[in-house]
Amino acid sequence: MTQFGVATDLGGPRFTALPPLSLYVHIPWCLQKCPYCDFNSHEARGAPDEAAYVAALLADLESALPGVWGRKVGTVFIGGGTPSLFSPAAIDRLLSGLRARLPLLPDAEVTLEANPGTFERERFAGYFAAGINRLSLGVQSFSPRHLEALGRVHGADEARRAAEAAITIFGNVNLDLMFALPGSAKWTSPRRLRSARRTCRSTN
Ligand SMILES: C[S@@+](CC[C@H](N)C(=O)[O-])C[C@H]1O[C@@H](n2cnc3c(N)ncnc32)[C@H](O)[C@@H]1O
Ligand code: SF4
Repeated sequence: MTQFGVATDLGGPRFTALPPLSLYVHIPWCLQKCPYCDFNSHEARGAPDEAAYVAALLADLESALPGVWGRKVGTVFIGGGTPSLFSPAAIDRLLSGLRARLPLLPDAEVTLEANPGTFERERFAGYFAAGINRLSLGVQSFSPRHLEALGRVHGADEARRAAEAAITIFGNVNLDLMFALPGSAKWTSPRRLRSARRTCRSTN
């Protein structure tokens, strides 16, 4: 029997209580579209209308509530696109709206995806104050050559600074790293992993 009352010895799972939900929220805009990216993401022409989009997300959630009545939420992932294009105030409105409509578990993991090209220390601190407790940072590589080849809007130093600030502010951080890039080894080299680990350790 698990914590959700799943009986596994009766020929298949049988829930006595439904497990917590995981909620994904998509923010589809980016500073510019990376040439390799297959996600539903679009170059922002001017500042996105945050207020209108947050209102539309909450209205969409409202219409889905009858299907999830009484369910708790264990994780929230705000992905993109580049959610870090949105201001901390907009993320605060979004999370307050979610909490008002769905019961978030007290230890819920609430992640926001960020691009080092949209990094500002105060912005990260604002997300943390709004209730984000995990940051997922699209570093891709710490090599200037790779970042340029990928058409990224940030350099290696910016990525390192963003990673260091994220670790200091959130503690719980994911770094996206790409491997098997053209002209590099098929697998991430130990040297690249050591460099990422050093960046993480340098703030601890
Ligand atoms: C949706 S992006 C969000 C992060 C942010 N937009 C950024 O790029 O910094 C999430 C991650 O997907 C990965 N990604 C993007 N395009 C991909 C592709 N075509 N195949 C596999 N991974 C990809 C990148 O590592 C990126 O950091
Ligand atoms: S910034 Fe991220 S989501 Fe946007 S186009 Fe680049 S990889 Fe895709």
